[in-house]
Amino acid sequence: MSTATATPEGALPHRDLSHTPWRVLVLGATSGIAEATARIWAREGANIFLVARNADRINAVAADLRVRGAAYVETAVADLDDIDGHTALLGRAITALGGLDVAYLAVGILGEQPRAEQDTTHALHILHTNLTAPVSLLTWLSNYCVNQGFGTLAVLSSVAGERGRKSNYVYGASKAGLTAFLGGLRNRVDREGVHVLTIKPGPVRTSMTTGMKGSEKFADPDKVAREIARAIDKKQDVLYTPFQWRPIMAVIRAIPERIFKKLNL
Ligand SMILES: NC(=O)c1ccc[n+]([C@@H]2O[C@H](COP(=O)([O-])OP(=O)(O)OC[C@H]3O[C@@H](n4cnc5c(N)ncnc54)[C@H](OP(=O)(O)O)[C@@H]3O)[C@@H](O)[C@H]2O)c1
Repeated sequence: MSTATATPEGALPHRDLSHTPWRVLVLGATSGIAEATARIWAREGANIFLVARNADRINAVAADLRVRGAAYVETAVADLDDIDGHTALLGRAITALGGLDVAYLAVGILGEQPRAEQDTTHALHILHTNLTAPVSLLTWLSNYCVNQGFGTLAVLSSVAGERGRKSNYVYGASKAGLTAFLGGLRNRVDREGVHVLTIKPGPVRTSMTTGMKGSEKFADPDKVAREIARAIDKKQDVLYTPFQWRPIMAVIRAIPERIFKKLNL
């Protein structure tokens, strides 16, 4: 594993929205939620750098963002599980963008809970993609932002990280770890001018949830994206989206363990 050390290309002015176009790095850019959010930034004329694994899909997203008004769109095809490649990838992206205002991390896999209960390799894969690799990316990016004295790190965690339940506790554990990491990171870098947004969606209609029972009632990715874009602008710390998941999770967290362990959740 390489040691990720941030080396900014020079002193940049303090974040000021008047210096548009905004420079946005999207990691996991073919995500349904990320794509909907990037469309908002494209309409605002942002510079956008997209990273994802599938070349055809990322090219389609890039073409769409250009049509919608993005000032500049560049792409990189990369497997973000490859931690050794992070330093070169992030350096290339920031050089192409001419700096960084927002890093938006949407990479994630749901995995298969029944398989993860039997197959340790699969369980560790979920933890690697959803926690270990993001920790590597965010460590580099946070040090870059601290060095320049500004920047937003907006990261998709999940309400699933709030309490382990039998139907998805490996995925939930990865998101719980990510949420805890982001809380500590915010506590460290907020005083350095760096904004960390923890995003906790409830179920959203994307490829991750296609075919799930009741998925037609899941949240609309465009609505979730609007709330995320607004939370970034307002420098919010934590966003539950849609909003009702904040009280729902407060109730779920409050259920005593002796009752919770008997529930089929
Ligand atoms: N949808 C929901 O209900 C929901 C709820 C709460 C939280 N979230 C979180 O929100 C984020 C976005 O999810 P989504 O719903 O938009 O799902 P999605 O459409 O399945 O997007 C997941 C993204 O992660 C990418 N990815 C996975 N492994 C990767 C790797 N090793 N390297 C590079 N890219 C990789 C996928 O790329 P490929 O196309 O190459 O696989 C895809 O772009 C995830 O972190 C998810 O856990 C989703």
